Amino acid sequence: MQKTVVKKISETNIDMDVIRQAGHILRTGGLVAFPTETVYGLGADALQAEASKKIYAAKGRPSDNPLIVHVCSFKDINKIVTQIPDKARLLSEAFWPGPLTMILKKNEKLPYETTGGIDTVAIRMPSNKIALALIQEGGGYIAAPSANTSGKPSPTLAKHVLEDLNGKIPLILDGGAVGIGIESTIIDLTEDIPVVLRPGYISLNMLAQVVGEVRMDPGILSKDAGTKPKAPGMKYRHYAPKAEMIIVEGEQENVIQKINRMSKDELKAGKRVGIIGTDETVKYYEYGLIISIGGRQEDEKIAHNLYRILREFDKSDVDIIFSESFSKLRMGQAIMNRLLKAAGHRVILAE
Ligand code: TXA
Ligand code: MG
Repeated sequence: MQKTVVKKISETNIDMDVIRQAGHILRTGGLVAFPTETVYGLGADALQAEASKKIYAAKGRPSDNPLIVHVCSFKDINKIVTQIPDKARLLSEAFWPGPLTMILKKNEKLPYETTGGIDTVAIRMPSNKIALALIQEGGGYIAAPSANTSGKPSPTLAKHVLEDLNGKIPLILDGGAVGIGIESTIIDLTEDIPVVLRPGYISLNMLAQVVGEVRMDPGILSKDAGTKPKAPGMKYRHYAPKAEMIIVEGEQENVIQKINRMSKDELKAGKRVGIIGTDETVKYYEYGLIISIGGRQEDEKIAHNLYRILREFDKSDVDIIFSESFSKLRMGQAIMNRLLKAAGHRVILAE
């Protein structure tokens, strides 16, 4: 056990003393958790194999699951990749700094400990100013997965990081609530036609407007365990609450009735029930712990609240969660991807 210090830091008035201390920890091979605009990350110097290994140990992460390397300027990626395709340049001009991660071919400077043993590397330049300052002070190449214990929902508040990693890391920078709330979009540029390996705030349409044809990894959309997603991390039952989770889809009225019936049965059987409803529907639910995730059309709000709500249900020790289903418009695809994974693809149609 080590003592985990939490330091508050403001994005609009960054205390550079704190950033320098944190940067020193990173340069000397230690771990620092920090806010990004998507979720909190757990950082280590990506160029030090031993530092990357500490990330896997602290998170309990399978060693074949590669890390994202965070940079603070596009030109810096030259040092760790074999070549920069035109599409990477175009995408960086359109979306960096921001919630887009690009997969490129790595060179020998980057240790395999950082990439889970594979020859490609995921790279992202976040827009959060605390993150950018830290990356700079930490040496420019910061490997950072989401700062949760492997398998838990990603942290959207510093206290979520503390819940998971207290005693395992020396420092958490508390920059308040993150903006987006779900992880970056990942696009693989190692093939001729780019492939989205993980949907996020930057949608397929937004990407296609910049680079033309873009495909979605079939492993993302499929329930069938035979179609493996290409991003190693997407194959785990990830983003998951402790409770069993079921998504109920169908006409709104039918969904409400179905969830009410199932909740009643579960309660009778002595189970604790959680319900993810929306502003429009929460008043119609009758049993269990009912939480609104936002308005049905408010995709940004739903994304922002999702992981926090899953963690709240964990805290309340619910045994089963019923969730409404959401439209796949805009960020909806990313939201449904995370929700389906949290539910292990258990979906019921309410008729
Ligand atoms: O928004 C984000 O991307 C956050 C913040 C902290 O930046 N980070 C994040 O990292 O979500 P992580 O480790 O939780 O998720 C990274 C995902 C995993 O599914 C991993 O398998 C995939 O990216 N990945 C990393 N490198 C890859 C590679 N070379 N090829 C394919 N997938 C890769
Ligand atoms: Mg993660």
